[in-house]
Amino acid sequence: MSSNGLRPETIAAHALRAVDEATGAVVPPIYLSSTYARDENYVPKLKENYVRAGNPTLWQTEEAIAALEGGSSALLFASGMSAITTLFETVPQGRHVAAPDVMYYGTRDWLQRLERLGRIRLTLFDPRMPGALEAAMRKGETDIMWIETPLNPTWDVIDIEAAAQAAHATGAILAVDATATAAVTTQPLKLGADIVFHSATKYLNGHSDVLAGVLVTRDETPRWAEVKALRTKIGAPLAPLECFLLMRGLRTVFVRYRQASANAMAIARHFEGHPKVARVLYPGLSSHPGHAIAARQMRDGFGGMMSLLVKGGFEDAKTLCTKLKVIVPATSLGGVESLAEHRKSVEGPESPVPDNLVRLSVGIEHVDDLIADLEQALAGM
Ligand SMILES: Cc1ncc(COP(=O)(O)O)c(C=O)c1O
Repeated sequence: MSSNGLRPETIAAHALRAVDEATGAVVPPIYLSSTYARDENYVPKLKENYVRAGNPTLWQTEEAIAALEGGSSALLFASGMSAITTLFETVPQGRHVAAPDVMYYGTRDWLQRLERLGRIRLTLFDPRMPGALEAAMRKGETDIMWIETPLNPTWDVIDIEAAAQAAHATGAILAVDATATAAVTTQPLKLGADIVFHSATKYLNGHSDVLAGVLVTRDETPRWAEVKALRTKIGAPLAPLECFLLMRGLRTVFVRYRQASANAMAIARHFEGHPKVARVLYPGLSSHPGHAIAARQMRDGFGGMMSLLVKGGFEDAKTLCTKLKVIVPATSLGGVESLAEHRKSVEGPESPVPDNLVRLSVGIEHVDDLIADLEQALAGM
């Protein structure tokens, strides 16, 4: 239960409903204005008077997400990447950052760019190795430990409580990219993380029609004030129309996520041991090395994200994507429609992702249609 006594499902379903005092509208108006007038004493009527610093539609969306994550404050950005890059702007010159070696490649690319420029020092660790989290940290030097769980696109699971302990023991903060678990189904802040991030483009919106990112903090620290100020300076807040669409999507996040999780579990079980599939990577399977941790820290299922390692190589995995008729061969994840992607083609030859990996973002369709589609595509591979 949240501090106001409501369960997350209720907070999400009511995310749009702050009954408009002037009209009684159950769905609130969208404040599109880019500027807000001052009163007769020349005092701004709102806490911000220019859209780049904030607006009522943005604040309403942020409040709903902060409540869902159990955080004290949320900041919405024009994309997931603008949220991530703004957070890393707060790392003091020359300080150290630790992050997993396999993760969303856009974040890895950005961190490696900062390292090349001499802005930060970087350790990329393999979270599957025992003691890797502690070994990656440098006492008094590491500023941020950044983790993602489950990790895109291998879906390895990182123990958030253990990561928080390792980060805090050296004076660093822990920031968690929880994009793959649809806010609220993991709640990293309750497991000790300081900041949680979502590409809201994905499950939070859920309809593949909004680009957005969000950071949520446990405490309103000086770093958080800096992130907020930087968002205004850089000019990266989410625009009001997108906020409204995101809030609309957010209302159904639980039912979408539960259905996607149930479908993914059925697909994982069906294709585990399939003659054309070398391995199914899905934390819901008891054969998955991260299953026990996932079962502890994820609720409402294990999510809709999984990968198939097909028998064969680069071309076979790519061919599978071209043979699909229901599942759409497209990037992104967390929408109501299922998507498939050959990640090595997207990430390039330097990527550590296996050649034979096909990533699936499982949607909310009838699962039998999805299984039949994958069966016919594997047969034609
Ligand atoms: C795990 C993860 N983190 C961050 C991002 C970046 O978010 P956006 O595309 O909204 O900028 C993505 C996008 O695919 C992602 O999958």
